[in-house]
Amino acid sequence: MRKLAVFASGTGTNFDAIAKACADGIIDAEVVLMVCDHPEAEVVKKAERLGIESFIFLPKSYPSKADYEKEIVERLNERGVELVCLAGYMRILSDVLLKAYEGRIINIHPSLLPAFKGAHAVEQAVAYGVKVYGISIHYVNGDLDGGKIIAQKAFEYDGNDPAEVHRLGQVIEHELYVKTISDILKKI
Ligand code: GRF
Repeated sequence: MRKLAVFASGTGTNFDAIAKACADGIIDAEVVLMVCDHPEAEVVKKAERLGIESFIFLPKSYPSKADYEKEIVERLNERGVELVCLAGYMRILSDVLLKAYEGRIINIHPSLLPAFKGAHAVEQAVAYGVKVYGISIHYVNGDLDGGKIIAQKAFEYDGNDPAEVHRLGQVIEHELYVKTISDILKKI
């Protein structure tokens, strides 16, 4: 069985969708570890409910990012993780993780990259008044929402409610992430 890790910092609806797709055999893999930097995050409860092991850490309790990433890499290696899926993990990765898992770390972002990078992509796109929104999945490098694009899906919305864009985008995110992970696993 192929092995995945999902990194998340918040609600974890993508984590949930990926884990359930694995359990249902839609993705031919198993989520063996959920990595989270916020003990209070909703995703922690979701992992518990699904019986998926978590590594929850407090970045401030480590001397540096390299130190906590070394620990993460050890845990990924111990569990034989082949692909790391970032799903709302709100930290830029350092070379420790990027080198250990080169070409095997992907991220999902709620915009049509390279437009609207960063944590407030949807709000910025609405404020800009765009009419076509979208979701991107890309390989991860050391730049914020940088790295080669793997998949994108656009949708139209002609309004000014970021919450509605989030709702519309979320449905697309779950479907696109599950399909993209499944496709990547066939190639690596
Ligand atoms: C998603 O919008 C994703 O594109 C972004 O963070 C959000 C995570 O949502 N990177 P969730 O925690 O999976 O619900």
